[in-house]
This record gives sequence, structure tokens and C-alpha cells, in this order.
Amino acid sequence: MPAEIRTTVRNNAGGHSNHSILWKTLSNPGKKPEDKLAKEIDEAFGSYEKWKEEMTKCAMGIFGSGWAWFGRGKDGKLFIEPFPNQDSPFMTGRTPIYGIDVWEHAYYLKHRNRRADYVKTCVENVASLT
Ligand SMILES: [Fe+2]
Repeated sequence: MPAEIRTTVRNNAGGHSNHSILWKTLSNPGKKPEDKLAKEIDEAFGSYEKWKEEMTKCAMGIFGSGWAWFGRGKDGKLFIEPFPNQDSPFMTGRTPIYGIDVWEHAYYLKHRNRRADYVKTCVENVASLT
């Protein structure tokens, strides 16, 4: 990719990809993951409650704009990790499953500067993790 458009493509393609996942995971509040993924979450993080704590910690720890991503690595292991701006786990060859958008545009209209309230709402209303 030509260097002069690399950042623009990275930001806009990342934004499209990230938000496409976000809309799918916010549509049916309160549903816990089931079956295989639920078991994997229990094994990797201790419990679904601990997973929510880790997602919250990740989202609250991001300085400025970015995403807290939960996903699966090439090795099959689950991860929770912060990504700046519109970067995506896809950029590192990993697969995103659920992300919390912590750009201010995601929460400022409803929550003002209270990111913690917004993040709590996100982790309490996860619709689908597949
Ligand atoms: Fe956003």
C-alpha cells in the first residue's frame, strides 16, 4: 500500500471493521455467552464475572481514544487487550470477538465524561459472543 495513504486506510478500514463488530454485540442486552465459549472464558479468566472485570480494567486503562478488545489469537487462546485509535486485532493476525469503543463519541452524549458508567453498561449488556 502506498505510504501516503497507509494511515488513512488504516484508520478508516479499522473504524469500519471495529464498528461492524460493535453493532452486532450490542443488540440484545444481557445475554451471557453459552456453550464452548462460556467454558473457554471460565478457563481463561476464571469466570464470566472475572472476564467482565478484565474488560472493564482494559477499557478504563486506555489513555485517549481506542478499543478494549476481547478475541482469539492464532494459537486459539483468548485475550483481552487495549488497541489505540481504530486499530484492530485483525492487524496482528488475531480475531476480534467483542470490543468496547472508548472513543468519547461512543459515550459522551449519554454519559458525558463518565467513561466508567459507559463501560459498565457495555459489559452488563453484551449480546453475543461467538
Ligand atoms: Fe466509535
